[in-house]
Amino acid sequence: MTIVNVKINSQKESSYPIVIEKGILDKAYDYITKYTKANKFLVVTNSTVFPLYGKKLEKDNVDFIVLPDGEEYKNVEILNKILDKALEIKMERKDAIIALGGGVIGDMAGFAAAIYQRGIDFIQIPTTLLAQVDSSVGGKVAVNHKLGKNMIGAFYQPKLVLADVDTLETLDERQFKTGLSEVIKYSFIENSCNAQEKFEFYNFLKRNRELVFKKDKSTIKELIKICCSLKSAVVNQDEKEKGLRAILNFGHTYAHAIESITEYKKYTHGEAVSIGMKYIFCIAKELNKISIDYYNSAIELINQYGLITDVDFSVDKEKFYSLMKSDKKVSDSNINFVMPNDNFKVSIEHNIDKNLILKGIK
Ligand code: NAD
Ligand code: GLY
Repeated sequence: MTIVNVKINSQKESSYPIVIEKGILDKAYDYITKYTKANKFLVVTNSTVFPLYGKKLEKDNVDFIVLPDGEEYKNVEILNKILDKALEIKMERKDAIIALGGGVIGDMAGFAAAIYQRGIDFIQIPTTLLAQVDSSVGGKVAVNHKLGKNMIGAFYQPKLVLADVDTLETLDERQFKTGLSEVIKYSFIENSCNAQEKFEFYNFLKRNRELVFKKDKSTIKELIKICCSLKSAVVNQDEKEKGLRAILNFGHTYAHAIESITEYKKYTHGEAVSIGMKYIFCIAKELNKISIDYYNSAIELINQYGLITDVDFSVDKEKFYSLMKSDKKVSDSNINFVMPNDNFKVSIEHNIDKNLILKGIK
């Protein structure tokens, strides 16, 4: 059994464990009832995940809401359906919402828990690699608005995260690789996370590529543990993204514009992130912020994991630029880039020349 404890600015009541284990879903109810005093639970899931894993959470005091599957349903209308259901089944303040699914479900269920009766307990059971290494940890919960991704949301920490590596067996290759993109991201920011432990995650990923692709359980557990430990270290220092937490958005300034300009239909989030990471490494190289050797090894890792590194469509560059400027990471009209500035280190940079930003965009 592997446990990573997330500590939020030493506030004891906001600290919680991430339990990473194969088969933990079979024991989920026992865990959940240890970490909340709820009498009633509402499981929020979707039409893909419910038939696969819903049964494992069935109990007399557990209700389900099964949402349609897809990022296009991560909106206030669907959020309202969760709230309607919670009211219909008369959930009370001490009851709890459980997210069973990927990042879309986790973000929406978490936001519902944050606003239902001003906040009820929330448990994350992430079933995609992306959700196990990233979205279920750290308390960002949100829905999209037609004018921007994750524009309506909150910081709301779960009481418990249960990551069952067995659920990754049913994940298709594209979604698995999407998660790997966020995994690789952690290797490029490791030395800026100020984690107590040194993981040398880049070397771990180089060494274990084959085992990762085979979904070897102990390798995947270790990989999730490292990612969660790095994210936990960052969130502990800066829960509400006043500064350091922005480094978790490495590659995301491009990614959100790529997702938005293709209306969330062409690329998964992770695919857009891997393209974004490659572009920002190119800029860092052009600005001499990193050595050629580091640039080459970073691109080598991205390629070794078979991640997408270029957009394969032409876009209106002005529109693309204005989308980058409407991202949440913009402050005082400056686009903030998380930029590599040394081996496995990043810093936040503004004032990057527009032509350089758009150089890789066709
Ligand atoms: P997703 O939730 O859409 O899941 C991807 C697909 O896999 C879906 O079709 C889903 O139904 C399916 N699926 C889930 N579990 C499965 C399983 N075990 N077997 C088979 N299929 C399964 O996408 P995602 O990549 O998990 O998450 C992306 C979302 O997460 C985005 O909305 C993004 O904004 C958000 N996100 C949030 C944070 C955060 O900190 N809150 C961080 C990163 C991403
Ligand atoms: N995924 C970015 C964050 O949690 O801050």
